[in-house]
Amino acid sequence: MLYEGKAKQIFETEDPNEIIIHYKDDATAGNGAKKGTIENKGILNNKITVMIYRHLEEQGIKTHLIRMLNERDQLCRKVTILPLEVIVRNVIAGSAAARFQLKEGTEIRCPIIELCWKDDALGDPLINDFHAIALNLATREELDEIYAMTEKINTILIAMWKEMGIRLIDFKIEFGKTAEGELLLADEISPDTCRLWDAKTNEKLDKDRFRRDLGQIEEAYQEIFSRLEKKEA
Ligand code: TMP
Repeated sequence: MLYEGKAKQIFETEDPNEIIIHYKDDATAGNGAKKGTIENKGILNNKITVMIYRHLEEQGIKTHLIRMLNERDQLCRKVTILPLEVIVRNVIAGSAAARFQLKEGTEIRCPIIELCWKDDALGDPLINDFHAIALNLATREELDEIYAMTEKINTILIAMWKEMGIRLIDFKIEFGKTAEGELLLADEISPDTCRLWDAKTNEKLDKDRFRRDLGQIEEAYQEIFSRLEKKEA
């Protein structure tokens, strides 16, 4: 094992350019303040991430995914993850609702892209491009490429979820660099990392059910998986 995170473990393989990502059922919120288990989450998030990444690849987004190995494991290209969380907001919710004192669900004129410095000890603080460059977290060129890819990913994902009767409220993505210097979308895209609301009822079908003790957590993840499966069929 190379690394263990809150929801995943990373293993090395015989090939130095490839790793295995193992998806666990562990869930945390509030930077580890709340801990729990969501039954089958690892299986669902592995499958959901693979389906989304395949769709993005088909639309020309370069990702680290090579293939799914089994229910909980995927084979990926080894990258060095940039220490940035790239957050996209299409509708105000979560920390943006609190920060701006706006009601959750408030519509905005265009998407907002935010950067957070991935540093648990600091609580992943919100930063801007100047911080990222000055603190050597990314170069101007890397940020330009990240923003261009992120806008494209957002456009693709909004349309994909809309087809399934789901509103993409916000999400978090991460990027990594291969040994050859290629920038790839990395990490997961799942109900752990997105806010997904049913288009008809605005019911929350994501990790906010765990964060806010709303119940029916596994059912929500299962519902997202079922709708993706139906779309693929
Ligand atoms: P926030 O409203 O708490 O800032 O979260 C915005 C989106 O980013 C939401 O879909 C959850 C996701 N997210 C993560 O996946 N990991 C994180 O560490 C944070 C802070 C947010």
